Amino acid sequence: MKPRSPLDALFNPRSIAVIGASRHPGKIGYTIVRNLIESGYTGKIYPVNPFAKEILGLKAYPSVLDIPDEVDMAVIAVPVGIVNRVARECGEKGVKVLVVITAGFSEVGNREAEEELVKIARRYGMRVLGPNIFGVAYTPIGMNATFGPSRIRKGNIAFITQSGALGIALMGWTAMNELGLSAVVSMGNMADIDVVEVSEWLADDPHTRVIAIYLEGLKPGTGQRFIEAMKRVTAKKPVIVIKAGRTRRGAAAVASHTGSLAGADTLYSAGFKQAGILRAETVEEMFDWARAFATQPLPPGENTVIITNGGGVGVLATDAAELHGVPLLQPDNELIEKFRKTMPWFGSPKNPVDLSGQAGVDNYVAALRVAYESDKVDNIVVLYCQTAVLDPIDLAKAITDVAKEYRDKNKPLLVAMVGGIETYEAMKVLNREHIPAYPSPERAVGSLAAMLRYKRYREKLGKQGLV
Ligand code: COA
Repeated sequence: MKPRSPLDALFNPRSIAVIGASRHPGKIGYTIVRNLIESGYTGKIYPVNPFAKEILGLKAYPSVLDIPDEVDMAVIAVPVGIVNRVARECGEKGVKVLVVITAGFSEVGNREAEEELVKIARRYGMRVLGPNIFGVAYTPIGMNATFGPSRIRKGNIAFITQSGALGIALMGWTAMNELGLSAVVSMGNMADIDVVEVSEWLADDPHTRVIAIYLEGLKPGTGQRFIEAMKRVTAKKPVIVIKAGRTRRGAAAVASHTGSLAGADTLYSAGFKQAGILRAETVEEMFDWARAFATQPLPPGENTVIITNGGGVGVLATDAAELHGVPLLQPDNELIEKFRKTMPWFGSPKNPVDLSGQAGVDNYVAALRVAYESDKVDNIVVLYCQTAVLDPIDLAKAITDVAKEYRDKNKPLLVAMVGGIETYEAMKVLNREHIPAYPSPERAVGSLAAMLRYKRYREKLGKQGLV
């Protein structure tokens, strides 16, 4: 296969050396080898450690130069004082990309060592991810070259993070919340490879549908390049960014964390807008939106219908729709009559379509069919308040079946369920079946709003002949 980009070795390495592979459980160099093995990485794994003969059942090599095979990627997890020596050896070996886990570089003022690392890499034509990172994972080839959790749920959200600890924490959190990931990339100090280059690679990755980025800041002078490059990325795929360091004190905290320039928040906002990037306010929001983009088609139009069994949640969803710019369809008489047939006489067939607290599975299924079959309806939001007459798991299964039946209609469907533990189980069922489910009407509507914003952005590009 012809290499597409210099980053191919980062996401599709045929072999990985772990330099600083440790014999001791609990150590970073041990965890990385274990994660590579347990994640089912299909390439070759070569532990490197001059003091070990074997690590986790794999033969260990004293140096990368002793490996009797080509090495595409080297994950470096030795103390900072040794990194540049092993990097040079990697260069001599013909390694293509270095994933430098080690901390203690520019983030603590040690700029010389970092500059030297980049110089060595350039000399030998290698690329560098990091330093000061927890690693990289790419689930289509079962590669978990991180010291984060061993289990990553496969999916099509790519997650790029400038924060290590938060990134690791969110790997576990995404698995718990049934969010599937294609890639996880820890950026650290971005001495060489940066967020833009990784995004560009992911924009052409068939396994990624949406890119979610935790960003602290860009290097000085790179703002314009960021905007121009991200414009090309967002023309292909949605990009959601959560930007930390929004406040003055937050910006100061960023400076001491990764050494990046947090800059004036308004400048970032303007830049994101220009680049077609969706800016989320919280991590939760970022993944809410990503969940919708990862599983649903883009809205074919603006007209949205809300189907509910509770008046209250219906009103909350209506408020959220108006606040977020989600147009609710005004159904005509014909559609009103169709919805009326799906509910008891005391329900409300207007939008929100209120099936009443007495609603059972059949009512929801019938109303959903009407919504899918009407060519006036573009987007569907289903709300459920837990009642004793309708088991949420039964509803989740029924929604899944109807959604499958009407898949070719290409209408986004988002669900919110409010209630006790059973609703959480039901939401898991839905999320596993790739129907985005949220614990509040506002979060479901907010996610649809993000999809609509992106749809409008793409339409604008379309008019300019850019997509
Ligand atoms: N080549 C390969 N391996 C070597 C080596 C060499 N030249 N010299 C030593 N080693 C081995 C060590 O013997 C050890 O293996 P062992 O445990 O089997 O003895 C292993 O490499 C690791 O070296 P060690 O000195 O034990 O380092 P450490 O594990 O305590 O720390 C880092 C290494 C990289 C983890 C540490 O320096 C570091 O940077 N930690 C912070 C990482 C971080 O936070 N990154 C950012 C996250 S977001």
